[in-house]
Amino acid sequence: MKPFICLFFATIAFAQEQPDPCQSKRKVAEDIKYCDRYYKCVGGAVVSKDCPNGLVFTGSIKGAKSLVDECDYPWRDDYCEGKQLANPPISTEHCDWLYGIFGHESSCTRYWTCWNGTATEQFCIGGLLYNEDTHACDWPQNVEGCQKHPLCREDPNGNVPLGKSCNRYWSCQGGYPRLQRCPATLVFDRETLRCVNPPTADCEAPPPTTAAPEEEEFEEEEEEEEEN
Ligand SMILES: *[C@@H]1O[C@H](CO)[C@@H](O)[C@H](O)[C@H]1NC(C)=O
Repeated sequence: MKPFICLFFATIAFAQEQPDPCQSKRKVAEDIKYCDRYYKCVGGAVVSKDCPNGLVFTGSIKGAKSLVDECDYPWRDDYCEGKQLANPPISTEHCDWLYGIFGHESSCTRYWTCWNGTATEQFCIGGLLYNEDTHACDWPQNVEGCQKHPLCREDPNGNVPLGKSCNRYWSCQGGYPRLQRCPATLVFDRETLRCVNPPTADCEAPPPTTAAPEEEEFEEEEEEEEEN
């Protein structure tokens, strides 16, 4: 009985063969063991290729978009399910791998994007925090270890002025900031931290129709973020 079982499993193991890229339409084929390696058919010959460090081969997933060559961030899909990595990480300052998106060492609202080992600092805006699981900015309640936004550190249920804005402000609810706007005829008073009848020390009535340059920029970014 035992030799029979061994033979049975051996047959299954050999049944999955390395696909030949020269037999495929796109002239690329996955490596059946490593998700960061693939094969290309170049002039009729099979050439082994490794993805840029930190990326993995996408070709076997239908409709997958590649970031560099035939490769993508590993967390974007099940690229590595049942597979291993052929290459260890190559790290540089702020980058665990040469390519990737990584958390900030000391801030919940910042993160790093790494391209060939060069890190660029990025910022989450609009009260969002960097989520290590999705590699994107996210609502604070979805971000483990960073539940409370620094904006709401002083008073988890208080209001916080937004830059020089006369009608927009942050409303902290249990440590989570939410962008708010005062009712049309009111302005935000930074002394009492409430919407009040104008004028206040900083804001005249009616609220200015043209925003200060910084504020305008902020609002644009805010909207961009909300679209994502
Ligand atoms: C990545 O950086 C190295 C040196 O830091 C450089 O030699 C190489 O050409 C770069 N590769 C790409 C694809 O930019």
